[in-house]
Amino acid sequence: MEHLPMAQGTFHIITFGCQMNVNDSFWLARSLQRRGFVESPLEKAEVVILNTCSVRDKPEQKVYAALGRIKYETRRVPSSFAVVAGCVAQQIGAGFFERFPQVRLVVGGDGLAMAPDAIERLHGDPSLRLNLTDFSEIYPERDPALPAQGEGEIPPVAFVNIMQGCDNFCTYCIVPFTRGRQKSRDAGAILDECRALIDNGAKEITLLGQNVNSYGLDKHASGDTSFTRLLRKVSELPGLARLRFVTPHPKDLSPEVIAMFGEVPNLCPRLHLPLQAGSDRVLARMNRKYDMARYMTLVEGLRAARPDIALSTDLIVGFPGETEEQFQETLDAVRAVNFMSSFSFCYSDRPGTAASRHTDKVEPAEKLRRLERLQALQEDLSSDWLKARVGCKTDILLEGASRKQDGEDAATESWQGRDPWGDAVNVSLPAGIGKPGLIVPVIIVTAKKHSLIGELRG
Ligand code: SAH
Ligand code: SF4
Ligand code: F3S
Repeated sequence: MEHLPMAQGTFHIITFGCQMNVNDSFWLARSLQRRGFVESPLEKAEVVILNTCSVRDKPEQKVYAALGRIKYETRRVPSSFAVVAGCVAQQIGAGFFERFPQVRLVVGGDGLAMAPDAIERLHGDPSLRLNLTDFSEIYPERDPALPAQGEGEIPPVAFVNIMQGCDNFCTYCIVPFTRGRQKSRDAGAILDECRALIDNGAKEITLLGQNVNSYGLDKHASGDTSFTRLLRKVSELPGLARLRFVTPHPKDLSPEVIAMFGEVPNLCPRLHLPLQAGSDRVLARMNRKYDMARYMTLVEGLRAARPDIALSTDLIVGFPGETEEQFQETLDAVRAVNFMSSFSFCYSDRPGTAASRHTDKVEPAEKLRRLERLQALQEDLSSDWLKARVGCKTDILLEGASRKQDGEDAATESWQGRDPWGDAVNVSLPAGIGKPGLIVPVIIVTAKKHSLIGELRG
């Protein structure tokens, strides 16, 4: 029998940034709970953990503001201290100890595996401070921290890291500095984690990494598993209803992976494929290693393999030197691909990057005007996408109960879930039949601004 963990302190995690950070925070919370720590509201927490993002200046500034706020909120918890994890931790390192004395642990992406041990030590010894910002040579495998079979709840939608870091050095991007070189994770460990998640109730898995489809191409990769082989092996795990991966890089999207969208039934018909800009000149200056012609060939290949595939993307406006005409090429590209959604950002200077040294910066007000024009176009395309979904028969993977819809009575419950394209769908079900992880057949009846409404079909 496993020993019961000793009662420890209370903790609270605040997460910024990408899905990798969200997943890291989720793991850290489970791992601390297994050691007897209890999650609590911020004002009662002894250990306050900030999992940080440095991809643009704004999320970095939020970290410093949050540290000030935390000091105020936890002023009545005498033993409280702060932990800074993630990309700003890696970027600033021990500098946090000088600027913010309440910080006693700084831990980067590779060091996170050691964070639960470190937090336990810090909790027991108020004189200690630790800095875990060294990069490791291989993928830093972690204690799985999964509930034992039948012991606990795993959300039906799960995320599994398959790599850490990035080797691409896009000229605007800080990630290769904050997450280090690309390190592929051992395929056996990935498959074990997927199996354990499925055994605990996961129905959908998203494989995660900064360049998921470059899996296995780095010198740290063990064995000869390619991304194609890995994807196929995960898709064949019994009980897995849906499989996705994020984020792929267009330069490494292979014909085999494209073909799999037409062949593998549980691979969802949705791909987030960052384009960044529609001008070949700007793409070259960003060091993206593809041009528009190559990107459009990928789009055509994906649509030939899976005609109903939906594409979404990331875009940057106002990269140094971007002209009005070059920006219009981004608008043209967005129309040509017809993205169902996109994340778009004003270019932001990041320390140490090549683009930050360019002298031909675009004025902030002009960047904002371009962003608004791009987002207005995307709103129209996204709205057209949702409207075109009305009448479609599809399946919804339920994630949780939602607010009651207009006209609902006590005999029904409202549930929120997603269709295979990743759209949020609300559906009203007879009371008592819904549960997270259940897949229900629906017909889409209404398109709202950012979501859909479905009706159960028999
Ligand atoms: N690995 C992924 C995403 C990395 S970061 C990829 O290769 O696309 C997520 C998004 O943030 C990027 O796709 C990019 O659109 C945006 N981004 C990264 N650095 C940025 C910067 N300096 N300024 C503005 N946006 C940036
Ligand atoms: Fe950043 Fe480019 Fe790597 Fe993506 S591929 S994380 S944008 S350097
Ligand atoms: Fe941000 Fe680091 Fe993710 S910079 S986007 S948290 S990899």
